[in-house]
Amino acid sequence: MAATTPNRVAAAVLHSEAKIRIRPLGGFIGAEIEGVDLRKPLTSEQFKAVHDAFVNYEVIVLRDQDITVDQQMAFGARFGELSIHPFSPNLADKPEVIILDYSKDNPPALTDIWHVDETFREAPPLATILRAKVVPEAGGDTLFASMSAAYRGLSERMKQHIHGLESLHDFKPWRPLFSHADRDKLRKLEDEFPNPWHPVVRLHPVTGRRVLYVNRQFCVRIKDLKLDESDALLEFLYRQATIPEYQLRVKWQPHTLVMWDNRSVQHYASHDYYPARRTMERVTVKGDRPKGVSGAYTPDTVPANGTVKPTIAEGTRPGPKRAFDRY
Ligand code: SIN
Repeated sequence: MAATTPNRVAAAVLHSEAKIRIRPLGGFIGAEIEGVDLRKPLTSEQFKAVHDAFVNYEVIVLRDQDITVDQQMAFGARFGELSIHPFSPNLADKPEVIILDYSKDNPPALTDIWHVDETFREAPPLATILRAKVVPEAGGDTLFASMSAAYRGLSERMKQHIHGLESLHDFKPWRPLFSHADRDKLRKLEDEFPNPWHPVVRLHPVTGRRVLYVNRQFCVRIKDLKLDESDALLEFLYRQATIPEYQLRVKWQPHTLVMWDNRSVQHYASHDYYPARRTMERVTVKGDRPKGVSGAYTPDTVPANGTVKPTIAEGTRPGPKRAFDRY
């Protein structure tokens, strides 16, 4: 891993034209972006630099962004149309904005599990942009895992085994919100969000990376496998997100803004701050229907650094062999 250091320093000066500094954070995931003030619209050079960093590093962190929800929405809208979450507490006059305001009487819910946002949709969001307003004295970090790194870390035999598989997704964590009396409402939502089949290995539409695209929160089963086979395989695949080398852990400060590529990462909100207060504002950008790799299996030929990341040397992903790979 030491060999990656010079490339990472080079990455930091890549976007001097846009006066933006990009500092990689994790070995496989995450970069902090300096030199951007989201109170003002981004120039096209700045937007290109931010967009490239977003798809390449999969999670970008921008500190000290004391912005309004309108400015947060305007930033998100540069990446595409904003979406409206069907279950979360949205702002009445700006339904694209979700306020996550947790405290003693309103305990955090549903996000302390590895997940990809809203994969119960046929076209899950492309990106999520979360900004901290009130941060607890300790705890409340968000963890991210690069699922492109996780895919690369699998053996060739496992990659062949999961090639072309599809899994069924459902809004299952929200089902308990509907009592028997609400069954018509639930049926309406089931019609609106019919369970989609998504590829187990997703092809990232920009970088061309292959991404392990199953998550514990919304996946139900894998097509064409017996239920116990599906359960065992899903359990193994879910566990890849928990491997520390693939992870980034973000410590929030007030006005930290984090944007993640929902096509290539999973995340987990640590609820260890309860009963303290933690308030976040969130917007999401609409995405497209996930596509898998078509045809018979062939080994991945996309450079480890993706198609638009020239500064990280080939071979730095998927990283070192883990101890158990040696046996
Ligand atoms: C989420 O899962 O979208 C929320 C993450 C967080 O609160 O850190």
